[in-house]
Amino acid sequence: MSGNTGGEIHAGARYYGALTLPIYDAAVLNIAVPFGWGVPLETERGMYRRLVGTRHLDIGVATGYFLRKTLKDRQEAQITLMDLNENATRYAADRLKRFDVTQAVGDALQPFPVSGPFDSIAMFHLLHCMPGTVAEKAVAFDHAIRVLAPGGVCFGASVTPAGQRLNPFGRLVLKGSNRTGALNNAQDTHDALRTAIESRFHDTKIELQGVMTLWEARRPR
Ligand SMILES: C[S@@+](CC[C@H](N)C(=O)[O-])C[C@H]1O[C@@H](n2cnc3c(N)ncnc32)[C@H](O)[C@@H]1O
Repeated sequence: MSGNTGGEIHAGARYYGALTLPIYDAAVLNIAVPFGWGVPLETERGMYRRLVGTRHLDIGVATGYFLRKTLKDRQEAQITLMDLNENATRYAADRLKRFDVTQAVGDALQPFPVSGPFDSIAMFHLLHCMPGTVAEKAVAFDHAIRVLAPGGVCFGASVTPAGQRLNPFGRLVLKGSNRTGALNNAQDTHDALRTAIESRFHDTKIELQGVMTLWEARRPR
């Protein structure tokens, strides 16, 4: 285990503990993602399968669901799990223990407590939990770029609902989760996130599916 935030854990990371982590995959990934945000889970699993490289950094890990699915047929992988909440890194590491796993407690808004270089860096469902405007959250890309290997890819997904049409279930989840602080994204727009990514990387593939921005980005500027 490396890294220490030393600071307060904001609400977007606070809810991940002994009671919530065991239900996260069912409630968030299998219900909220497809039915609230309009993205088939298989779309996201496919991105992981395609993009996880030899030395992989996962930021904001919760249960480590996508890595478990991606690595189930692989014999070897070098994985670094970074999260502001140590419950999450521990929980995910425990489920990935047959691989070479490093745990790091750190805030994506601060310089990362890991040095890399990493061939792939994933930020799935992370930015929409973090406080601030999209421009403020995007500092996480600057920190990621410092540990990205030449030729590496930074990829992720974040719910960017502002200005989009949500279904009634999505509206309910968005409102409730922004009220508790579990999500902090009511003002996040797809265009702001696209601008943040395109201003930092030469090679980008960015799309809006449902109300989720999905991206892969290579060759930092
Ligand atoms: C919604 S979960 C996403 C989990 C996983 N990536 C997935 O897609 O299923 C968000 C995770 O990000 C972590 N997190 C929230 N804010 C963070 C921050 N500023 N820095 C690092 N991790 C953070 C939370 O503790 C939680 O584990």
